Amino acid sequence: MNDSLDDFVDRLQNTINDEAIGVLGEQGFKRWQNPKYRGTLENSDAHGRITGTCGDTMEIFLKIENDSVKEVSYLTDGCGTSNVCCSFAAEMTLGKTFEKLPEITGESILEKLGDVPKDEQHCAFLAASAVQEARDDYMVRHKK
Ligand code: FES
Repeated sequence: MNDSLDDFVDRLQNTINDEAIGVLGEQGFKRWQNPKYRGTLENSDAHGRITGTCGDTMEIFLKIENDSVKEVSYLTDGCGTSNVCCSFAAEMTLGKTFEKLPEITGESILEKLGDVPKDEQHCAFLAASAVQEARDDYMVRHKK
């Protein structure tokens, strides 16, 4: 690439990054760049799947040992905020007993994320619902 094209690409990338930080905040931006726990989990013990009124679907997969979450992953076909909220929700399940999973709420995810614009906050509530769907699935499978 020549210099002017390099400069253009750099400026464009900086603009995209600035806009993403504006929407996701610093914490969310870092997670968006490195979406931890994204993917499926083979032989999961619990699976939650929910589609929001926006049309986005979120899925949470849990592996549970001794009634605690040992492994987690998530999938979503949603936007950057959906991915970030799902990633934080997934992270928050780790080490929790299934009785403690209801502590993961839209509010607690937003608290972890910090600064999320009002228009995007529903993503956190959908991610929390996906976790609760996984919890319900675990309870049904294990008759709790
Ligand atoms: Fe649909 Fe965020 S836009 S969950």
